[in-house]
Amino acid sequence: MKPIYKTIFVWQHIFILDIFKIFMEFDSVVRRRRSAHSFLKKRASWKAVLDAVEAANYGPFAGNLNNLRFLIIEEEETIAKVAKHAEQTWIGEAGIIVIVCSDETTLEDKYGERGRVYSRQQAGAAIETFILKLADLGLGSCWVGAYSDELLKEVLKIPQHIQIEAVIPVGYEDKKSYEKKPKKKELENSIYWENWGNGKRPTIFKEPIDPMQFKR
Ligand SMILES: Cc1cc2nc3c(=O)[nH]c(=O)nc-3n(C[C@H](O)[C@H](O)[C@H](O)COP(=O)(O)O)c2cc1C
Repeated sequence: MKPIYKTIFVWQHIFILDIFKIFMEFDSVVRRRRSAHSFLKKRASWKAVLDAVEAANYGPFAGNLNNLRFLIIEEEETIAKVAKHAEQTWIGEAGIIVIVCSDETTLEDKYGERGRVYSRQQAGAAIETFILKLADLGLGSCWVGAYSDELLKEVLKIPQHIQIEAVIPVGYEDKKSYEKKPKKKELENSIYWENWGNGKRPTIFKEPIDPMQFKR
């Protein structure tokens, strides 16, 4: 083999291995993530939280209008107040709490009524990326949705027109109080084919020659 072809061959294989590694890492983070309900005293770094916010910002946004704000709370007193207003005392164990907020007026201006739906949808997508990145960094977190909007807005000086999308305690999970990972829905109960209610894939289609094409 000519040296130039040898080089291309080697680089091609390194590239394929890299792609394979990315998929492996993605799957492992997705499966490793869990809702943490107890935290160690060791504090998470605020820089890790910024990394996770940055990851969330890479996600899709309707019209590419990112209308989210991540309010980061480190003050112990404020953390205690947030835990109280969520009526979930364990939240107070976290060294950092992130309040994910959206301003739906930005999307309403462009998309009318539908903009409000987009706003909630893109907040959910961003929250998922955010907590996955935290898991990737070895941090525990939990998507908390039960809290008093009114009281949190008052304590955190959040304007009335801003929507609180989630409260996310962040820290190192206390593995001593690990709960069993909840059972997840099985694939066959998650999909229909071609028509609502049809659980069987029609066999009229040819199998793709390269199944990897769906991953590109
Ligand atoms: C919209 C939403 C709201 C949630 N609210 C709470 C909450 O208030 N308190 C809590 O402990 N967990 C909350 N969770 C976390 C779920 O309880 C958790 O995701 C579920 O039990 C599955 O566990 P896992 O995240 O470890 O897979 C919420 C999750 C979502 C998506």
